[in-house]
Formats: sequence, structure tokens, C-alpha cells
Amino acid sequence: MDKNSVYKPNIIGAGEVGCASPVDMDKDAVYKTNSLYWNTKGNDFLGAIVLPFYGAYVSEEKFRLFGDVAGKKLLEIGCGNGQSLQYQGERHASELWGMDLSENQIEKARQHLSSCGLSANLICSPMEEECGIPEDYFDFVYSIYAIGWTTDLEGTFCRIASYLKKDGVFIFSWSHPIHKCVVAEKNGLAFKKNYFDESWHSVSLDEGELTLSDRKLSTYVNALAKAGFVIVQMIEESDEELMQSRNADSDFAKKAKMLPVTFVIKARKL
Ligand SMILES: C[S@@+](CC[C@H](N)C(=O)[O-])C[C@H]1O[C@@H](n2cnc3c(N)ncnc32)[C@H](O)[C@@H]1O
Repeated sequence: MDKNSVYKPNIIGAGEVGCASPVDMDKDAVYKTNSLYWNTKGNDFLGAIVLPFYGAYVSEEKFRLFGDVAGKKLLEIGCGNGQSLQYQGERHASELWGMDLSENQIEKARQHLSSCGLSANLICSPMEEECGIPEDYFDFVYSIYAIGWTTDLEGTFCRIASYLKKDGVFIFSWSHPIHKCVVAEKNGLAFKKNYFDESWHSVSLDEGELTLSDRKLSTYVNALAKAGFVIVQMIEESDEELMQSRNADSDFAKKAKMLPVTFVIKARKL
């Protein structure tokens, strides 16, 4: 594994971006703001987070959450530029499907996968909405740093459950909510944000704007249970070796030594 190949931490955490402004949640306005961001900025500022990495310091190569995907049907939610689908295609998945809010990201994924000699069904849609994805069809649905952008977590998890066959597996990663609350300062870490505050806010990034809510871990767990999933495994720890090899002196790495910056959940549809 080339540990430096896709390194760029997700920096949306307390202190790493400018001020957050509170907003009323209107899902069409959120789709508009967030699709404009990814259509114009793509991953230039945030960096792509793609398999085998679930986040800066957690990798599939260590945890093997998927196991053997050969011959399996896979769907990626928020597939971005298609690199994670490429990873699955190279592991001989029988069908690759991806969906994303951003037309430009879907176009990038299309071009990237075709340049790798892989074919995929790619759909441009918000994950919250019906968009023609088949039901009771997939062995795996997965998402790398995209689920948290949903305006409707319970509705999205119910849709994902409907796409999966019985006993199908859902794996997703996202910024750990504690990472969003704590800032690295000169003499240590400081708690700067209320962990329980799930209000919607917009953040300015690279002259663009994104709208989101920072949900508690229990909000994810309870929404999974409501949608009919059982949790098989949850990962919070960072890989020591990856931390050493990637900007070990950065504020982000300093935080990652003390608290989880990413969480990954593997769940099974009952
Ligand atoms: C941080 S990127 C992660 C995706 C991929 N792992 C990558 O690094 O390129 C988030 C992706 O989620 C997509 N996205 C944001 N909100 C979405 C929504 N409501 N429905 C579907 N996709 C969404 C964005 O367009 C973007 O491609």
C-alpha cells in the first residue's frame, strides 16, 4: 500500500474552517448549495477520500470490512470521482453502481472508470430521493465520507436498506462527531463546540459554501436500528502507522492521537 497516495485529511472539524453560520434546513436549498460546491470546487480543497481509505487514518487493508467482493453487486452512495468504485472493480465486483448529487462528480467518475476499462451505472441524484436504483438487489451498499451530507438520515438509511438484499451489508465512514468539537491548540486540545448541537449551519470553504448538520454518534446508530440494520462492527481508532507516515506533526495528526477523527460502521440488513 502506498500510504501517501491519497493523503488529504477531511478538514471539516472545529477550528479547521472559518465560522459556521446557522441556517434553516430547507432540503432544496441544501441540494442547491452543496451541488454548486462540488460542481465548481470538486475535491480540490477537501481532498478525495477513497478506498482503500475510509478516512485519513483508517484503511480497508487493515480492517477488511468488505472481504471478497468478487461476483458481488455494489452501490456507492456519494461516489464522487469514482476512485472507490475503481477499487471495487479491480477486485472483480460483478456490478458497480454509483450515485452522487453533483453532475460534475458523476461525469468525472464516468471518465475515470472508462479510462480504467470499467463500466458502472452512474446516477446523478440526492441520496434522499427516489432515483431508479433497484430494490432488494445489492450485496453491498457503501459510502465514504458522503452520508453525513444527507438532509434526512433516517429516510436515507431506509432507502439504503431497500436497495440491499436480505443480509446485505452497508458500510459507511464519516467524520467522527467528537473531531468536530475539539480544536488543537498550542498546549493541547480544547473543546469548542457542543457535541449535542445538531443544528444546520453553513461553512465557507475556499470561497465556496457548504451546508450541513453535525450529528451525534447515537443519531447514526438509532437511525440504523430504525431502518432495520444490525451493527456488525464499528471502528473509531486511527492506524498508528498511517499517523506516523502522514504529516505526523500536523494539528490534525495531533488530534488523531488523542481522539477518533473518523468513524466507520459496518451493518447488516435484517
Ligand atoms: C467529501 S465527498 C466524498 C466522496 C468520495 N469519497 C470522494 O472523496 O470523492 C462527498 C460527496 O458527496 C456528494 N453529496 C453531497 N451531498 C449529497 C447528497 N445529498 N446526495 C448524494 N451525494 C451527495 C458530493 O457531491 C460529493 O461528491
